[in-house]
Amino acid sequence: MITANELRNLFIDFFTKKHEHAKISGASLIPENDPTVLFTTAGMHPLVPFLMGERHPGGKRLVNVQKCVRTGDIEEVGDNTHLTFFEMLGNWSLGDYFKEEAIKMSFEFLTSSRADGGLGIDLKDLAVTCFTGDENAPRDDESAGIWRSLGVSDDRLAFLGKADNWWGPAGQTGPCGPDTEIFYWTGDGEAPTVFDPEDARWVEIWNNVFMQYFKNDKGEFLPLEQTNVDTGMGLERVLAVLNGKKSAFETELFEELIEEVRMLGRYDKELSDEEREAERIIVDHVRAATFMLGDPVPLSPSNNDQGYVLRRLIRRAIRYGRELGIEGFFMRKLAGIVVKNYGEFYGELLENQERIFEEMANEETRFGQTLDRGMGVLKKEMERLSGEKSKGIMAFADDFVFDMFATYGFPLEMTLEEMKKKGWISNDKDLNVLTNNFNQNFEKHQALSRAGADKKFSGGLADHHEETVKLHTATHLLHQALKDVLGDEINQKGSNITQERLRFDFNFERAMTAEEKAQVEEIVNSQIKAALPVSYEEMTVEEAQAKNAIGLFGAKYGEVVKVYKMGEGAMRGENVFSMEICGGPHVANTLELGTFKIAKEESVGSGVRRIKAVLK
Ligand code: ALA
Repeated sequence: MITANELRNLFIDFFTKKHEHAKISGASLIPENDPTVLFTTAGMHPLVPFLMGERHPGGKRLVNVQKCVRTGDIEEVGDNTHLTFFEMLGNWSLGDYFKEEAIKMSFEFLTSSRADGGLGIDLKDLAVTCFTGDENAPRDDESAGIWRSLGVSDDRLAFLGKADNWWGPAGQTGPCGPDTEIFYWTGDGEAPTVFDPEDARWVEIWNNVFMQYFKNDKGEFLPLEQTNVDTGMGLERVLAVLNGKKSAFETELFEELIEEVRMLGRYDKELSDEEREAERIIVDHVRAATFMLGDPVPLSPSNNDQGYVLRRLIRRAIRYGRELGIEGFFMRKLAGIVVKNYGEFYGELLENQERIFEEMANEETRFGQTLDRGMGVLKKEMERLSGEKSKGIMAFADDFVFDMFATYGFPLEMTLEEMKKKGWISNDKDLNVLTNNFNQNFEKHQALSRAGADKKFSGGLADHHEETVKLHTATHLLHQALKDVLGDEINQKGSNITQERLRFDFNFERAMTAEEKAQVEEIVNSQIKAALPVSYEEMTVEEAQAKNAIGLFGAKYGEVVKVYKMGEGAMRGENVFSMEICGGPHVANTLELGTFKIAKEESVGSGVRRIKAVLK
């Protein structure tokens, strides 16, 4: 038996105490300054600037536990392996050790005994894969050789292509390289001598990525100056396999949640496959939504970007709850269990619990109203068309099912169910016609491609494109200028940069006046013209606070952080225009930015405004 807490601690202790890594705290679930993904999808995401050569205050060997969300898998949740939210354990070399030491450390952690600080896995239950090579990069014989030297036989070593043994930007630019993945035998009886990566009883438990290339925008793979190691071990999955469970849903992490769902649904019986799947979807989504609501970067359910994914998770959980016969409000109660069980390791959940409960309950109320209203519209339409019942689904307007969703927020599944119940849908063909029509419309209307494409890491600030770096520096100037014009209580609520523009969200109750916008532009431009040198220093969070630096959210006390400043002085407000905790990168002098212009200022939900701005 091993618990989640033991696993986290074993991992961190192994790398800090035995191999001189510095423990760093995990980052927010909402990526900062990175337009290519909606959520932090892997431990490497928040570390991209450092993988590209920015200095990390923790040094060159780091270890962390990073909370992640992968929404690309949203339709697969409910099977045995996919989770929307998960924790990733990772050790990092930023231009320090490379393949040999990384593989040896992985091996030592996996196979040394629990008493010696490892997981105590028998070598005969392990197998590995390495990159087989292609026109861009050679076969990774080096990694394979290291595995062999540790006693892994050729029978347990498979070479696979880019789809499996490569980590990096899909179709975009950024750091990347071959990886080696470690598999654990979960089948009954002894593991077969010969490893078959297609056999699902071999479960991948750890990935070591060797970042040694940079994919440029011509699609060329150039050797990276600083070679890095990025590893990822999925906590839930490892917990399941080490405890002999078939799935993460059978581990302690979900036990109490599932019990509560059963209590709420007042059932105690053999479950059908669909019912079990519904249970798992509910607990998975509640856990993910609770972490999103409790993030240091506050997120609320809304109709776009991250807020939309959050809304969808909450509503989907509620819908499945109804299918299981759960009546009334239940999400807040389940969120309470997540907060209780995770609050010790993730203090932000305790700090933000009021907010989590309130948002959860509000969204449940809103969804209830949406369902009532949608049901009313649907019933009325069916009544109105009752004379044309013989036409079946053809009686309805072409895009009716999509409109129910787009205009009234009524879920597709419920529309179809109701139409079926009332005899409008009589066979699978009808169902397919309506579902296809919905999907086509949905793709046309929803800009959710980013959410779907975030399975693997991609570009963003990693590009180090001149333009994104300039816009990043401009974002700091804008942040301070907004404080100067609207008040020091203005704070960043989100930031997102593409090569064309910056986007900055901040707390403010009303639209900015034309004068205020002009003033902000004027301040930013005068600071650009002042040719301020941009530099950084490393200091503890307390020191940063004493210098009046901004951007304190998320940072843990005592932790060493990088603080970027613009100007020559020592403290924000004293010859330093801007001073912010930030990983970088930035330009060397504000003069490089050109001319700053606000393109748009708008509302994005209650109390939050959004500015889009460009540099010319
Ligand atoms: N970035 C690698 C992964 O997520 C370690 O698998």
